Amino acid sequence: MLFLDSSEPSEIRDIFAWGVVSGVTTNPLILAREAGSQDLQSRIREVIDASWGSVSVELTAETEDEMLREAITYHSWDPSRVCVKVPFSEIGLRVLHQLSERGVTTNMTCMLSFNQAYLAALAGADYVSLFAGRVRDMGYDVRPIIRETRNVFDREKLPAKILIGSVRHIMDVNEALQDGAHIVTVPPAILRKMLWNPRTESTIEEFNAAWRNRR
Ligand code: E4P
Repeated sequence: MLFLDSSEPSEIRDIFAWGVVSGVTTNPLILAREAGSQDLQSRIREVIDASWGSVSVELTAETEDEMLREAITYHSWDPSRVCVKVPFSEIGLRVLHQLSERGVTTNMTCMLSFNQAYLAALAGADYVSLFAGRVRDMGYDVRPIIRETRNVFDREKLPAKILIGSVRHIMDVNEALQDGAHIVTVPPAILRKMLWNPRTESTIEEFNAAWRNRR
């Protein structure tokens, strides 16, 4: 499955119309870049209206109490659509566990290893976000991490979905899906590149020219 890694409502609406994407992920960096000083609630409302499925919204508070308060606020915006994204840490695990006990949909994020993803799944995360591009930035191979995570989740029947983010290239999408990711969240520019194949274009031109020039 594919999610869209964006907070740009017009881009989200356009791409959802293709019928290939089933959720949205945002993060503070994406929102700072794309939404600037717009009020977060109104921006997330626009993202929700432009899409379907879960919309991940990330916590930025840093203490347990503040994170819980922030999470409950996000959840209240649309309990059936908002997925609270919790950055991985010891406090993050405590917060995520409490949210999952209260039935709030959660996405544990900023993870780069099997160990972190496993802890997040045990704590009750609905989605565990592994950052493929950032693993590769450190010079490590992300593919065995995805395979190991999927194998253990399947063996232990853990319901968490492996969500691969930090996608920088089409090959990141292909490899993650082959290695066992349940979902890859793809930036719009990379999803658009997935449309393109020069041989498809020349084939369609050839067919249409033949039709136009028929006798
Ligand atoms: C998705 O959930 C992540 O927030 C996002 O893909 C991170 O991407 P980056 O590593 O390119 O910032």
